[in-house]
Amino acid sequence: MLPNMIDRILAKQIVPVVVLDDAEKAEPLAEALLAADLDIIEITFRTDAAEESIRRIAKRFPELLLGAGTLLDNDQVKRARDAGAVFGLAPGLNPKTIATAREVGLAFSPGVMTPSEVEQALSLDCKLLKFFPAEAAGGVKMLKSLAGPYAHTGVKFTPTGGITAGNLQDYLKLPVVAAIGGSWMVNPALIKDNNWSEITRLTREALDLAAQP
Ligand code: 3PG
Repeated sequence: MLPNMIDRILAKQIVPVVVLDDAEKAEPLAEALLAADLDIIEITFRTDAAEESIRRIAKRFPELLLGAGTLLDNDQVKRARDAGAVFGLAPGLNPKTIATAREVGLAFSPGVMTPSEVEQALSLDCKLLKFFPAEAAGGVKMLKSLAGPYAHTGVKFTPTGGITAGNLQDYLKLPVVAAIGGSWMVNPALIKDNNWSEITRLTREALDLAAQP
């Protein structure tokens, strides 16, 4: 991750994790997030609409820090970069995709959930790591334990998986947490119903909670 991207993620501390089945929804969704003053989005590469959604958002909303998530192979890394994503993420750590991302100039945040994976990430010079699946892997207690031997390395985590408005502050209190990721404010039912105002409301609520000391 480039320093200015990390700064932007640190500033907002919320990464909405989006699954889009229809690229027509990409622009209104981006508008709904920007209306809440959130300028970060992760579009997951789990659907056929992901690549086109990224392309449309990159073209129309250059002010958004646009990430592509669930990048599981080299082809997806390249397609995400070519479509306009400026950073990539994955639920796990795959040295091949990390190397490809580096080759094509895509900042990349792999996923980890064990000490060995943290060490592997550090050995590959990755310092911003997704902690996935956060709640199922032990949540705040597990992250606190991981911070013990690794915080001094400068590693930071973006816990994702099972995080909501109800527990996001517990994570953000930890100094090793850069941001949290979650889908609750952009859940597929809201997107299907074109309920953009509710997406804006939930996103605003998340940002307000994150901003509280
Ligand atoms: C995911 O991979 O879908 C993300 O980690 C989001 O998890 P969540 O739906 O529990 O927020």
